[in-house]
Amino acid sequence: MKAVTVVPLVKDSLALRDMPKPSPKRGQVLLSPIEVGVCGTDKDIIEGRYGAPPVGEEYLILGHEAVAEVVELGDGVDNVGVGDLVVPTVRRPTTCTLPISELDYCPRGTYAEHGIWYLHGFAAEFAVTDSQYLVKVPREAIDVAVLTEPLSIVEKGIDLALRLGRARFESWSPRRVLIMGAGPIGMLALMVMRLRGFTDITVTATRPYDSLKAKLTREIGATYVNTNVDQVNGDFDIVIEATGSTNAAYDALRRLGADGVAVLLGIYLDGKTVNMGPLLDDWRRNKLIIGATNASIRAFEMGVSDLVKAKLKFGGWVRKLITKEVTLDEYEYAYNWGHEDIKSVIQLKSL
Ligand code: BGC
Repeated sequence: MKAVTVVPLVKDSLALRDMPKPSPKRGQVLLSPIEVGVCGTDKDIIEGRYGAPPVGEEYLILGHEAVAEVVELGDGVDNVGVGDLVVPTVRRPTTCTLPISELDYCPRGTYAEHGIWYLHGFAAEFAVTDSQYLVKVPREAIDVAVLTEPLSIVEKGIDLALRLGRARFESWSPRRVLIMGAGPIGMLALMVMRLRGFTDITVTATRPYDSLKAKLTREIGATYVNTNVDQVNGDFDIVIEATGSTNAAYDALRRLGADGVAVLLGIYLDGKTVNMGPLLDDWRRNKLIIGATNASIRAFEMGVSDLVKAKLKFGGWVRKLITKEVTLDEYEYAYNWGHEDIKSVIQLKSL
């Protein structure tokens, strides 16, 4: 079968290779991926920064964001059936002993991740995974379900922000929201905050006011600010950082008001240094910072449910977040996205 592979830690080893078709063991299913999304983590792996193949193998199949059809059941599988549409979660325990609902809290080195660490991903004609980690997708959400994995991390961050914010004092009633970044994570955060009823939302990014990102922001009732958040007055009650830039994260924290909650969803590997001194002193005003990079099955389920709601409320807006679709043979283009792109996907089968 054809698969998008790398030799982990070897820069630019990305290639479409012929790999053996896997077969499901007990408790596993064979998946036929429909769409696979690509993200910054894939780019980091392609650039040789991290990633590992399955033990004893040379190649790693990429792809940790997927929607797929179940095509074959291994022995003992009874929670899904052939023909079901599913989104697989990413992380599997190796030595982690936490319950299945809490694997996102496993310590480093105690887990494997599909398409990243020790387990093949889904950018292939077929893939296998354990059936208990699958989240079912209703057919009406199939065209947007590839967004579920990145959305799961947004869901986790926002859910924690709202619950922990209120756990501090019940009358906490956040109103002003700032989202830094209009890539997939920023736009999905905007979607979730609109679904949660927030109306005072500002999104900042570097694209101009007539860009797709600016238009999509305004289309569902938020304000777009190009580049400099200091153009907006006042503090924010909730700040969601979705750029992965250390400087932007600093700005995000700087604009958080008293009693505010900040959610950091980026991967901050740009090597920049910031002076936290002034921020730390202001932290005394009951501020809370939350970080997240991987999410639980529950967060995936919340994601699927919100995608269905968002399609009803915002119509074609959600699918517009997918700005690039390529076939498996054109896989290279998917990993070459520009600043105007939001989410690039490899489409393996028609929807
Ligand atoms: C994935 C997560 C994963 C993280 C670190 C992210 O891109 O979405 O599922 O845990 O990378 O490997």
